[in-house]
Amino acid sequence: MKIAILTGGGDCPGLNAVIRAVVRAATRFGWVVLGVEDGFEGLILPNKIRVMTPWNTRGILHIGGTILGTTNRGNPFDYRTIENGKVIARDMSRTVLETLRAYEIEALIVVGGDGSLSIAQRLYEMGVALVGVPKTIDNDLSATDVTFGFDTAVNTAMEALDKLHSTAESHHRAMVLEVMGRNAGWIAVEAGLAGSADVILIPEIPFKMEKVIEKIEDRNKKGYKFSIIVVAEGARPEGGEVSTVKYRLGVLDAYERLGGIGSKVGRAIEDRLDVEVRVTVLGHIQRGGSPTAFDRILATRFGTEAVTLIEQKRFGEMVCLSGGEIKTVLIKEAIGRLRTVPPDGQLVTSAESIGISFGR
Ligand code: F6P
Repeated sequence: MKIAILTGGGDCPGLNAVIRAVVRAATRFGWVVLGVEDGFEGLILPNKIRVMTPWNTRGILHIGGTILGTTNRGNPFDYRTIENGKVIARDMSRTVLETLRAYEIEALIVVGGDGSLSIAQRLYEMGVALVGVPKTIDNDLSATDVTFGFDTAVNTAMEALDKLHSTAESHHRAMVLEVMGRNAGWIAVEAGLAGSADVILIPEIPFKMEKVIEKIEDRNKKGYKFSIIVVAEGARPEGGEVSTVKYRLGVLDAYERLGGIGSKVGRAIEDRLDVEVRVTVLGHIQRGGSPTAFDRILATRFGTEAVTLIEQKRFGEMVCLSGGEIKTVLIKEAIGRLRTVPPDGQLVTSAESIGISFGR
């Protein structure tokens, strides 16, 4: 049997652990494993496929990122290139099928978030034998209790909060930390709880600025001369819009991503209170670094289970974690269903019980 693996979309800690687990488990069956570089683009462009062995995938378990590379571009159904100064979009899905045939790839493992898994589903419907492995630091996929990468990101944000605490206290400042998470506040809530934040602002609970101000004032009155505010990038004030920044996606296009709400909140605090404010945007630091033990173990379990799915010819399925067990779900049922923080769930109410404000 010859199988291939690719990693698509934004990277996250634990991808290498999946690659290593897949190669080791498949090799034990006597299969050949090919690695596809840079996500689906590796099935469109030439010379982006290489043989993976336990030997050339050794020593990567603890390393962040993906040794195969990844890209947010390269959607085969909307593949963009520049021709004569113009952006041209083409459907290259047939090329993907040809490449799979040319390399005699009998099954494909797609490690990706919602976007890559949606592409995988379309390819599966065209006859590609594939299975999915979910990944994202945002932890916003409803089909799995948790994704690998999330725990590492939370720990990174928590460490940042620990560091901000000491300098906040020394200078009697309000420190705002903007964290990632897209339209889900999981990183903000969990890092905020673990890192002893005073205010946590998340997309699921549009905030009132006056409530944030009240909380900081109240702390100052009680003699706490500093405050820590965690803001999810997707948070927005009640009746207001999310904040976005325009980025260049390679040479081809500009696209908007969430960002900027941290400095808006910081400015609003400075405008209303006699408090010095500093804003930190943690950004892609949350995506890098060595995966935690939890993420290494989950990624390894996902990888070995993906190989089992192929062995059992259960194509179109994706591995997931449910109640501590590795289970599976149909990719088509997993995509497009986001999991967000329940505004009145235990995590939020427990945080509120210890005085953390969500700005409501
Ligand atoms: O989905 C993961 C994530 O890191 C989000 O939290 C963030 O909004 C986005 O990706 C950033 O994307 P990019 O790497 O394209 O800037």
